[in-house]
Amino acid sequence: MKRAILAALGLATSLAAPVAGEDIKVGLLLPYSGVYAALGNDIEAGFNLAIAQFGSETDATFDIVREDTEVKPPVALGKAKKLILQDKVDVIAGIVSSGVLGAVRDLVHGAQVPLIVANAGNDDATGSDCSPYITRMSFSNGQVNRPMGTWMHEQGIRKVYTLAPDYAAGRQMIDGFVQTFTAAGGEIVGQEFTPFQKTQDFGPYLAQAKASGADAVFVFYAGGEAISFVKQYDSFGLKADLPLYGSGFLTSPLYVNAEGPAAAGVITGLHYVPTIDTAANRSFAEAYTAETGRVPSEYAVQGYDAARALIEATKAGATDRASLADALRQVSFEGPRGQLSIDPATNNVVQPIYVYETVEGAEGMTQTVLAELPAERDPVNGCQMAPVSN
Ligand code: PHB
Repeated sequence: MKRAILAALGLATSLAAPVAGEDIKVGLLLPYSGVYAALGNDIEAGFNLAIAQFGSETDATFDIVREDTEVKPPVALGKAKKLILQDKVDVIAGIVSSGVLGAVRDLVHGAQVPLIVANAGNDDATGSDCSPYITRMSFSNGQVNRPMGTWMHEQGIRKVYTLAPDYAAGRQMIDGFVQTFTAAGGEIVGQEFTPFQKTQDFGPYLAQAKASGADAVFVFYAGGEAISFVKQYDSFGLKADLPLYGSGFLTSPLYVNAEGPAAAGVITGLHYVPTIDTAANRSFAEAYTAETGRVPSEYAVQGYDAARALIEATKAGATDRASLADALRQVSFEGPRGQLSIDPATNNVVQPIYVYETVEGAEGMTQTVLAELPAERDPVNGCQMAPVSN
């Protein structure tokens, strides 16, 4: 246990007394710079908390090597190669951007290195490009947005304008929403994809949204882009006439206080909100806040559950790349989000989706849950799952 905590903190493990069991080398591949840097930090904090809390349940110890993807697919690919070939990691965890996941997919699949995805929702990684080595503990882009299309139509919304950054996640999140919204009879009256990591001024897009005749706007933005977008939407004076909806990353607890009152009234859907009223979530939220001083975000939970999945896999006896890959896809446990399991057909997590409104609370912005929608399992999307080869 002591050794696991020291390793999680990046301290010399040789100081600790040797313990029986395998030392598992973990490559943590996250953005520590760029527009998603705060997301990477929250994932890592959640990951380390789970190792501190549950590490003693396994004989294995965890030796962590961190690498910064910079949210740049070519940089991330180079870092993943270094982790696999030079550091010889047993498992990689992390990855925030769908673009980065797309870039490293063939490498981890070909090298047969297990990857626990702790954010990136790229649908293809658990669809047409699925792999027995890739297990996703976070969400898929379609999974978190399809329920919102149906739900918004049920609320009487008929015409929607959509906006998202122009990269894999932006396109797939919007596609998921559009699929169910149009299937229910809704109409998309306009759609734009904004240059990713480059758009500072959303004014021209907001002017188009206003002129489109939409009843509402549905968007995906995250990290620094979410903060700019929500603030500009509010200062443009659109919120009253053209209500803002989106996937919940838009108003993540990680940065909703940086958005402030501009985020009030925004309605979004996601697989986690810190106000979920269960014993498992309350105890996680308390421990996370005690450790970091922050309310846990979806990113923190994803890091926490990724480390728990790894611990569960080692408890089942996995020690090397092949046995870890095999065990990871079979994990199931109750986490802060509720009961989690991995769909064997795709290796994507199965989980409920919450619709929530951001409101001003006594201690800053908070979330009121409006609906809990049933556990969402992705369609197979062309995945032909092969067995892990030993
Ligand atoms: C993604 O690129 O898949 C992505 C990034 C940030 C999020 C969600 C998804 O908050």
